Amino acid sequence: MDYDDRRAAAYDADRPERAAEAGAVAGVIADLAAGGAVLELGVGTGRIALALVERGVAVTGIDASEAMVARLRNKPSGDKVRVVMGDFGDPAALVDAPFAVVLVAASTLFELDDQDAQLQCLTRAATLIGPDGVVVVEAFAPDVTRADQSLSVTGSADGRVTLRAVRHDPMTQVVHGHDVVVDDAGTRLVPYRIRYATVPELDLMARLAGLRLRARWGGWHRQPFTLASDRHVSVYERA
Ligand SMILES: C[S@@+](CC[C@H](N)C(=O)[O-])C[C@H]1O[C@@H](n2cnc3c(N)ncnc32)[C@H](O)[C@@H]1O
Repeated sequence: MDYDDRRAAAYDADRPERAAEAGAVAGVIADLAAGGAVLELGVGTGRIALALVERGVAVTGIDASEAMVARLRNKPSGDKVRVVMGDFGDPAALVDAPFAVVLVAASTLFELDDQDAQLQCLTRAATLIGPDGVVVVEAFAPDVTRADQSLSVTGSADGRVTLRAVRHDPMTQVVHGHDVVVDDAGTRLVPYRIRYATVPELDLMARLAGLRLRARWGGWHRQPFTLASDRHVSVYERA
C-alpha cells in the first residue's frame, strides 16, 4: 500500500477512535516490555510509538513511508523514536536484537503481499526477541463469509467522510479496495490492497516461526476474544 502524502495526511485525522486508543495500546505493550525495548513494524505516524515514549519506553520503529515518518517527526517527542527506513518484511536485516517486544499493530502484517512474506516477517521477528520476549500481532479477525463486494463508511470527522468500496477474493484472501474520500476539496480515490490471514493460520505461521501463543484478547483492554470479536491482539512467546 502506498502511504503517500495524501494518505499520511488523512491517517491521523480519519479515525479519531484509533488515535484515542493509543494510550491503552501503550499500557499493554509497556507491561509486556517490563522495562525492555520495543520494536514496532510499520511505525507510521507514531500513534503508538509516541504513547510508549511518554511512558519512558525505548522504541525503535521501521517504516517504508517517508510521508508517514515525516508526520511522526513533526510531533512533540518525535525525535525520541528511533526510526529505521526500510521493508519490515525482513526486520532482522535492519535492526539488531534483542527487543522485549516486537509489535505489529493495526493489521499492518496484512500489508505484506502474501503468506510467504508474512511468514518470513514473523520468522525474522522471532529472532529479534530475547528469551522472555514476545511478538505481538494486532489484526482484524477475518470474516471468511464476507461478501465479495461491499461499501461502508469507515471515517467521518472534521468535514470529511470516507467510504470504503471493497472487492474480496476468498481464494487468495486478498482484499482490493478503494477509499472514497469526500471533503471540501472534492472527491478522491485512494486504492489499497491487503492479504489477510485467518486466526488459526496466523497461529500456524507463528509456530513455524518458533513461537507459541501466550495470550489472545479481543482488543487492547484485554477483553476476551470471542466469536463476536472483530479483531484480536495475539501475544506470541518463544516455543
Ligand atoms: C496501517 S499503518 C499503521 C501505523 C501505526 N503502526 C499505527 O498503528 O498507527 C501501516 C504502516 O506500515 C507501513 N508499511 C506497510 N508495509 C510496509 C513494509 N513492507 N515495510 C515497511 N513499512 C511498511 C506503512 O508505511 C504505514 O506507515
